[in-house]
Amino acid sequence: MDKKLLRSVREYKKQSFLTPVLVAAEVFVEVLIPILMAKIIDVGIMNGDMAYIIKLGALLVLLAVVALFFGAKAGQLAAVASSGYAKNLRHDIFYKIQDFSFGNIDHFSTPGLVTRLTTDITNVQMAYMFTIRLLARAPIMIVMSLIMTVTISPAIAFMMLITIPVLGGLLIFIAKKAHPHFIKVFDEYDELNNVVQENVNAARVVKAYVREDHEVEKFGKISGIVFRLFTKAEKIVAWNSPTMQFTMYIVVLAMVLIGGESIISGDMLTGELTSVIVYALQILTSLMMVSFVFVMIMIAEASTERINEVLDEVPEMEDKADAVTEVTNGDIEFEHVNFSYAGEGGNLSLKDVNLHIKSGQIVGIIGGTGSAKSTLVQLIPRLYDVTSGTVKVGGTDVRDYNLKALRDQVSVVLQKNVLFTGSIYENIRWGDETASDAEVERVCKLAQADGFIREFPNQYETMIVEGGNNVSGGQKQRLCIARALLKKPKILILDDSTSAVDTKTDALIRQAFREEIPDTTRIIIAQRVSSVEDADVIIVMDKGEISGIGTSEELLKTNAIYREVYESQMKGGKDSE
Ligand SMILES: Nc1ncnc2c1ncn2[C@@H]1O[C@H](COP(=O)(O)OP(=O)(O)OP(=O)(O)O)[C@@H](O)[C@H]1O
Ligand SMILES: [Mg+2]
Repeated sequence: MDKKLLRSVREYKKQSFLTPVLVAAEVFVEVLIPILMAKIIDVGIMNGDMAYIIKLGALLVLLAVVALFFGAKAGQLAAVASSGYAKNLRHDIFYKIQDFSFGNIDHFSTPGLVTRLTTDITNVQMAYMFTIRLLARAPIMIVMSLIMTVTISPAIAFMMLITIPVLGGLLIFIAKKAHPHFIKVFDEYDELNNVVQENVNAARVVKAYVREDHEVEKFGKISGIVFRLFTKAEKIVAWNSPTMQFTMYIVVLAMVLIGGESIISGDMLTGELTSVIVYALQILTSLMMVSFVFVMIMIAEASTERINEVLDEVPEMEDKADAVTEVTNGDIEFEHVNFSYAGEGGNLSLKDVNLHIKSGQIVGIIGGTGSAKSTLVQLIPRLYDVTSGTVKVGGTDVRDYNLKALRDQVSVVLQKNVLFTGSIYENIRWGDETASDAEVERVCKLAQADGFIREFPNQYETMIVEGGNNVSGGQKQRLCIARALLKKPKILILDDSTSAVDTKTDALIRQAFREEIPDTTRIIIAQRVSSVEDADVIIVMDKGEISGIGTSEELLKTNAIYREVYESQMKGGKDSE
């Protein structure tokens, strides 16, 4: 068991500690029962003393009830302790993920995180439960039963003393053999989850491309691998039971031989032999349990490692103690910015970018796909950190800001955007939880969303489902813009956010911005020249570098890329309006 993970037990320490105590109490009572049985046989039955039999019989029932009570209580506590531990662990991992930067999230795959939050935690939970329940039980049971056996027959006790390490060793050998197969199974689980998640998320695309057969085949393949690995592991573990049975028969046979001789010579009574056999069975069962828990712990170990990977991940961005909480204006400055998604030494996605955007300007960014437009703007709200150079907002290095303060003032509508399950009101209020209905409606008007929302039967109470699949692409984009506007940011960034909106509505949105939020710095990434043509400055990106900066007129004269895009789009009438 991993010490660091065990810290998550927290308020369930009491239950975790009490469980083995109760288990011990249960065992102490349980080991008395075979002695009573021996007495009933050897004294009560032998002498035909019915009163004695009833007296001891009643005591035996009482002990059995007490043992039952302790056992049941221990089981309950173990269940509470282990599920509580799992709950805390899940909470801790989830909490940790919230602190992850985009870079941290890139580091783990989404299915990888999901497996950790589900299967891996369940493994740890099960191992924990069995550990606190059975690991206390087995040693106490073995020691107590041995002591009892010694008092009755030292010879049989000696034989058990030899059997225990032999059988224990065998069982652990089997568990160790199975271990690597179990580890492989859980690695494949990641892959299985990956396929399921991808398929379910993209169910519509799969259908559109009639790729169901292909997906089923892909799933079947991994599912087959998991099946084979599991079978392999379980086949090895299946040796446990027969090994145990075999040992048991040998032991019982040996005991009958040793015991029989003692009975004949008058050193031992029949009832005593019965109780010694019961003790031997209890010892063997305990060993079986230990090997079972051993397998569980080994499985959980792999899971523990995977959970620790998440908990040990260092969040790339943490607020400094003296972080700046006030963004003075919407000024943006890039000084010799280099950026690589892989960190220092990786392929540069941005190369020596220098740039100054004045507060309140409208900036257009244009460039081919993969030219790093998205990469450039993601550095402004510090979704990623520069690899070298500086990005300043309002004259201050973005790394010196309190992250929340910065992101409240720099609102981005990401290219890959999602809405969440909930009403339109709730979705827009992601921008500002305290906003009034009127405020929400105002930003929706600005984003040209009010019109279509009013046409829904439930208007602003319309439920959004599955990340926004029940609204059209253009409607979704406008809702995302409204959500970003609600923050009243000093800088608003739209990353290709009107690509699915018709050009007329696009123009209306930009006009509304000009009239209603003239002081906000607006950065608009677009594929359409018409979306950026009237901007104060246009930045032309090419392969991670700035190829030109200027107004549309200037760029038409000086920048070949811009001219080419402009001419190709404006040919044959303005855009395709
Ligand atoms: N999360 C990421 N991890 C690694 N590389 C990335 C990541 N996101 C983008 N890239 C790479 O960085 C480069 C620039 O990508 P970027 O998304 O900034 O282009 P873009 O100009 O926004 O393109 P588009 O017009 O298609 O949106 C590309 O080569 C891309 O493959
Ligand atoms: Mg992009």
